[in-house]
Amino acid sequence: MYSTSSAPAKVILVGEHAVVHGHPAIALPLSQLRAYVDARESVFRLSISSSYAERAPFCWRKDESKSADPLMRTVALTARHFAAEALQGELVIRSDIPIAGGMGSGAAVSAALAKGVAALLGQELAKADLNSIVYEVEKLYHGTPSGIDNTVVVYERPIYYVKGQPIDFIEISCPLALVVGDTGVPSLTRAAVAAVRARLAREPRQTQQLFDRIGAIAEGAKAAIKVGDHGLLGMLMTQNHRLLQALDVSSSLLDRLVETALRGGAYGAKLSGGGRGGVMIALAPPDAVVAIEQALWRAGAKRVIVSSVGGEMAPS
Ligand code: MEV
Repeated sequence: MYSTSSAPAKVILVGEHAVVHGHPAIALPLSQLRAYVDARESVFRLSISSSYAERAPFCWRKDESKSADPLMRTVALTARHFAAEALQGELVIRSDIPIAGGMGSGAAVSAALAKGVAALLGQELAKADLNSIVYEVEKLYHGTPSGIDNTVVVYERPIYYVKGQPIDFIEISCPLALVVGDTGVPSLTRAAVAAVRARLAREPRQTQQLFDRIGAIAEGAKAAIKVGDHGLLGMLMTQNHRLLQALDVSSSLLDRLVETALRGGAYGAKLSGGGRGGVMIALAPPDAVVAIEQALWRAGAKRVIVSSVGGEMAPS
């Protein structure tokens, strides 16, 4: 038996950080950038290896569901889900997604790995069950995740997300041309989320006002997507960036890349994800994509990814 499972990267279009505190946000899957897990039957033991981090093979024990290692926790939770008594095989992880870059690398690796474990067991995971497993593992990465990353990565569809509410899938009939600029600076979402939480405790009124304004932007962005108004959507994204600056989760390089994209003709631009490093995104008129891409490289981006989101048929 041999199988390959995968899961996509994601970007937060609008609403990060405020979403942790109950406000809406919009996230998009970036299908061309993925984490993969090759699963192969073998005897005696379970081995997990990864092309992006050195790992010794580990032996699976049933009590790993409390493990602080995200890979072990993913395997254990999936095995427990299927009440598996034994687990053996080879799982090889590969990923195109920058680590600690705000693009959901952890969630995508967990999702692909859980699917790989299910494949070794001759099973398939329902999306809702996969989502619960990946959410549990996200707590190791994020501390107090909103659940937006695991949800967009597992369902692989654009979502308007409010913590604790049913998933609202959004259709993007008019494709969004996105240019993603990676600062190459790793940043742990857990630390940025904790800093924002500390700020909320220190300055509750002012921080809550910032969250309220970000939430209103997410609502406006949903309406702009519906009518295909990319000019308005871009303006809202840039406003969102200014509010994230006020929350102190931007960085000088992120700001430089955002301003570069705007000068290059983007409808709007902002940091995406936890911030303080990681990536920024620009919504571009199709004929400005190449110029913005080149300008971002010149301004110091370590990697630039161009993606078109939406415009396809919704999966049935
Ligand atoms: C990370 O992609 C988005 C954050 O809002 C954290 C979360 O929602 O869990 C920063």
